[in-house]
Amino acid sequence: MLLLGALLAALPVVLSYPSAYNSINCIGDKILPTPTYGLSGANFSVCATINIKAPITVVSNAILDVNNYKNWNTFVYNATPPADVKTAADIKVGQSIVFNSRGIPAGATSVGTDIVTFVQRPYFAAWKNIENEAFIGHSEHCFLFAACADGSTQFTHWQTQYGLNAGVIYGLKPDFQRAYEVEANDLKKYAEKK
Ligand SMILES: *[C@@H]1O[C@H](CO)[C@@H](O)[C@H](O)[C@H]1NC(C)=O
Repeated sequence: MLLLGALLAALPVVLSYPSAYNSINCIGDKILPTPTYGLSGANFSVCATINIKAPITVVSNAILDVNNYKNWNTFVYNATPPADVKTAADIKVGQSIVFNSRGIPAGATSVGTDIVTFVQRPYFAAWKNIENEAFIGHSEHCFLFAACADGSTQFTHWQTQYGLNAGVIYGLKPDFQRAYEVEANDLKKYAEKK
C-alpha cells in the first residue's frame, strides 16, 4: 500500500479545463476565473486577445515552445524549462519553468518560476505562480486558442491575481495589461511569418 501511495502521489493529476472557458473574452474590465482557483480570493485580472492568421497548432505550439521565446517574445524574453524539454511537445503538467520578463513595471525586468497546471493541445494551457505568496498572493495564467472558420486563430491570454496580498501589486495592473498586449502582438507577428 505504501508503494501504491507513493506511486499515485508521483502521478500528476491531469484535469480538463472547464468548457465554459471557451467563451471567455477580454471585453470589459472584469475578473476572470482560472482552472486551479476559480474566482475565489481574486483581486484583479488582465487579459489580451488577438486574431492571428495562422493555424491553431502553430499558435499553440509557439506558446508551448518556451525555449524559443527568446526569438520573438519581447515581454517574456527568455524561458528555461527542465533540461529534458526540447520542443512544445515536451511540456507537461507539473513542470517548473523559469520565466524572464520585461516591462512590469515599465523598464524593469523580473524572474519568476511558474508551474504548468494544464496542457490540452491545441486548445488550452495554464501555469500558476505561488513562489511569493506571502508578499503578492498567487496567480494563474491561461492561454486559450480557438480555431476560427477562416483558418485563423483567436488567442486569448489572461492572468488573475489572488490572495490576501494580491492587492499589493494591484497598482501594477496597467503594466501587466500593457505587457500582455505587447506579447499578443509579438505572437501574431511571429506566428504569421511561420
Ligand atoms: C484589489 O486590491 C486593491 C488594493 O488593495 C483594492 O483597492 C481593490 O479593492 C481590490 N479588489 C478586489 C476585487 O478585491
